[in-house]
Amino acid sequence: MSFRSTATLLALIISFWQPEGRAQSIAPLPALKDSAKFLVGVALNVGNEVDDLVDIKESAALISTQFNSIVAENGMKMRFLHPAVDTYDFVAADALVEYARGHGMIMHGHTLIWHHDSQLPDWMKSYQGDWQAMLRDHVQQICRHFAGKVKSWDVVNEAIDNRHTDQYRATLFLDKLGPAYIEQAFIAAHEADPAAVLYYNDFGMESKAEKLQFMLTIIDDFQRRRIPLHGIGFQMHVRVDSPNIAQIKSALQAVVARGLQVRISELDVSLNQTRKVANLDPALTQLQKNRYREIVSAYLQSVPPAQRGGITFWGLLDKDSWLVESKPYPDWPLLFDDQGQAKPAFWGVLEGLKELQ
Ligand code: XIL
Repeated sequence: MSFRSTATLLALIISFWQPEGRAQSIAPLPALKDSAKFLVGVALNVGNEVDDLVDIKESAALISTQFNSIVAENGMKMRFLHPAVDTYDFVAADALVEYARGHGMIMHGHTLIWHHDSQLPDWMKSYQGDWQAMLRDHVQQICRHFAGKVKSWDVVNEAIDNRHTDQYRATLFLDKLGPAYIEQAFIAAHEADPAAVLYYNDFGMESKAEKLQFMLTIIDDFQRRRIPLHGIGFQMHVRVDSPNIAQIKSALQAVVARGLQVRISELDVSLNQTRKVANLDPALTQLQKNRYREIVSAYLQSVPPAQRGGITFWGLLDKDSWLVESKPYPDWPLLFDDQGQAKPAFWGVLEGLKELQ
C-alpha cells in the first residue's frame, strides 16, 4: 500500500473514532432569519463598483442562509450614486439589489442624505446652484430608480450634533438650507416612492439623553405637521459595557410610543475601543455574547411586533468591520470570525431571539 493510501485510510479511521467531533463540524448552523419574525439583515461592503460582488462569493452561502435583508455598507451613499452634478450611476448598486432579489432578501437603502466628508461627492462640496432643487432631485432620482426594489430608506443620516446634542449637526446641508433640508428630503422621498418606509437614522440616542430628547422634538414636530417620517434607525454601535440596557430600552420605548417603526440599523459590539489590546481575550467573547443577547432581548421587549423594522448587523466577518478598517488597533465586533465561523456572539443573538417573540 502506498504512503498516500495508508494516510487516507488512517484519516478515515480517525474520523470514525471521533463521531461527536464530526457530527459537530457538519451540523448546520441554525438560521437567525428563521428564529425571528422580523427582518434580520447584514451590511455588505459591495455594490460600490461594477463586478465587486465577487468579493462576497465565499460568504454567499452564509449570507443567504442567515439573513433575509441586505444593506449596502457604502454603495448607496451620495458619492456612489450621484458622482457628478448631472450623473447618476446605478450600475453597481443595481447588481446588489438584483443579488438580494435573487436570494429572496429585502433591500434596505442607506442613505439618501449624509454629511460625512468621505462620502459626499466632491462636486457637491462646491455646488453654487439652487440647493433645495438639487437635493430634491438627488432624493427623487434615487427613490424613483429603486422604487419597488428598495423597500425602506434611511432618508437622512446623523443630522443631530453628537457633542452639542441639543443642536443640529453643522453640515453643508444645514449651512445651505437650515434644518428644513431634513423635512424636504422626507417629503421628496415620499413623493417619489409613496410605498417606501422612510427612516431617520442616527447614533447615540440610546446613550445621550439630550440627543434622544432633541430627536423626539423633531419627531413630534414632524408628526404635528404630517411630514412623512415612518421610522427611526438606532445605529447601535455599542461597547460591551455601555450604554446600559435600561437606557437602550427607554430610548426604544420613547420612539415606540410615537407609533413609529424601529430598526436597530447598524449593530456591532466593539470589544477593544477602551482597552486597545493586541489580542482577543476569550473572556471578552463571553461578555460580547451576553451583550448581544441582552440587546436583542431589549428590542423584543420594547418594540411590539407591528413596529419592528428589524435588526441589521454592520458587517458579516470581524475582519471586514468598519471598526477594523478605520482604527489602528484590532477589534472583533461581529457575529462571525474571519473564517466565517459563528462566534459566541452569534449564539447570544440566537438565544435573545428565542427567549421572546
Ligand atoms: C461606514 C462604513 O462602514 C465604512 O466602510 C465607511 O468607510 C464609512 O462609513 N454610521 C453610518 C454608516 O451610518 O454609514 C457608517 O458606515 C458607519 C457609521
